[in-house]
Amino acid sequence: MTNFTFEGRSALVTGAASGIGAACARWLDRQGVSKLWLIDRDGDRLAEHGLACDVETIADDIADEALWTDLEPNLAGLDHAVLNAGIGVGGAIADHSFEEWRRGMAVNLDGAFLSLRACLRAMRDKDAQTKTTQESRRGSVVLTASITGIKPVPGIGSYGVAKAGVAHMARIAAAEVSKDGIRVNAVAPGGVDTAIWDSSKDFRAGVSAHGREATLAAMAATTPRGRFATPDEIAGEIGFLLSDQASNITGTVLVTDGGYSL
Ligand code: NAI
Repeated sequence: MTNFTFEGRSALVTGAASGIGAACARWLDRQGVSKLWLIDRDGDRLAEHGLACDVETIADDIADEALWTDLEPNLAGLDHAVLNAGIGVGGAIADHSFEEWRRGMAVNLDGAFLSLRACLRAMRDKDAQTKTTQESRRGSVVLTASITGIKPVPGIGSYGVAKAGVAHMARIAAAEVSKDGIRVNAVAPGGVDTAIWDSSKDFRAGVSAHGREATLAAMAATTPRGRFATPDEIAGEIGFLLSDQASNITGTVLVTDGGYSL
């Protein structure tokens, strides 16, 4: 097993109540991270993880600038961030209402920007830097984009556009903060078996007609690998990018889609 070194480090995870974010919180805890900030608008489920490390849970909306304004001073010297909260929004461009477009953009792109801005500022905090015993900064961020931000999938509405923005924002930020010793990467998953699918009307119709397993299997049949990923598989990949094992990797968008985009 790869020996990841997260002891003595802090990390922040958004969308941590469910799916990929919850798996990332568990993964970091298993690697010995010292402190976790877990953020999700679903506060009840945040408290259910039973982790060993010091955990601060914050039940709030990542798209609310006030959350980050209040939180940023407490994050000074933050080591790692998984900026992952997101919502599913469907519909063809020609059929999208502006309200629905804005709803998707507000969380999936604006929320990612607000999260990233606060975490980068906290990571390069000058006072905190002088407190660290490390020779160089070790800050790293991973944002959760999507394969739909790379492959133009019909009917994905504002979601794919926002995720393309998230991936490019990661690359721009990587170029900007390398001089501060901070790495920024993104992952672009294909289908992952999480609760996000339950927000889709078509998915819910499939589940009531054929059951969840059969519906997921039918969707995954269009992918060379033939099945959806698990949240734990994606968390391991995010964890690698966060870790010192990936110290030469910045500005990458890691496609993890079981071959869907081939
Ligand atoms: P999920 O629905 O299981 O988890 C998302 C979490 O984000 C939920 O706990 C939700 O409460 C939280 N959240 C949503 N909006 C929020 C807001 N405004 N403020 C705070 N928390 C908020 O879904 P999943 O799949 O774990 O999603 C994680 C990320 O992965 C999302 O960005 C999603 O777009 C992305 N993704 C998921 C794929 C999939 O097939 N499941 C594929 C590609 C990307």
